[in-house]
Amino acid sequence: PQDIVELVQSHIREVNDFPAPGVLFQDVTPLIADPVAFKALIDILADRYRGKVDAVAGLESRGFILGAPLAVALGVGMLTVRKAGRLPGPVVGIDYDLEYGSARMELQPFTVNDGDRVLVIDDVLATGGTANAAFELIEAAGGHADTLCVLMEIGALGGRERLAGRTVDAVLTY
Ligand code: PRP
Ligand code: MG
Repeated sequence: PQDIVELVQSHIREVNDFPAPGVLFQDVTPLIADPVAFKALIDILADRYRGKVDAVAGLESRGFILGAPLAVALGVGMLTVRKAGRLPGPVVGIDYDLEYGSARMELQPFTVNDGDRVLVIDDVLATGGTANAAFELIEAAGGHADTLCVLMEIGALGGRERLAGRTVDAVLTY
């Protein structure tokens, strides 16, 4: 609905040249600091996915903040897809390219139940590298991941195309 779009949009801060020159950073901290806006967002996402997913996978870092309350609201478990070296093994890992630099994400495969429908959640979809890595890790661990939920999609960076074949749900698109 339009009111949630406006509510979310009005609580996001655009920051130029962060964390690197040329990057326009979308800062969601004002949104999560606002109890009304944060709850409204989680409520609307919970309505969208209720009964449709068996687990929520948050992408470090801001995907954790969005994913955990959503998982509780849905009555499902919360998985963490983390940057290299943060999780004790065994882990599955994958290297990928970022808008700025490169990175490695890891997941503990024993946290994924075979055949579970896993919803991937993050704050921003840019090039799609991070989300694509998460999809591959979840599938390597035996889950089904075909949907990404993000607050913001930056259309010009081609993330949706990179994730072709998956569903991308974005609250806001730039
Ligand atoms: C940002 C953002 C997404 C990712 C999107 O995370 O939070 O996770 O980039 O970019 P992509 O679609 O090109 O992969 P970042 O790597 O800056 O880490 P952070 O969330 O820990 O700040
Ligand atoms: Mg991130």
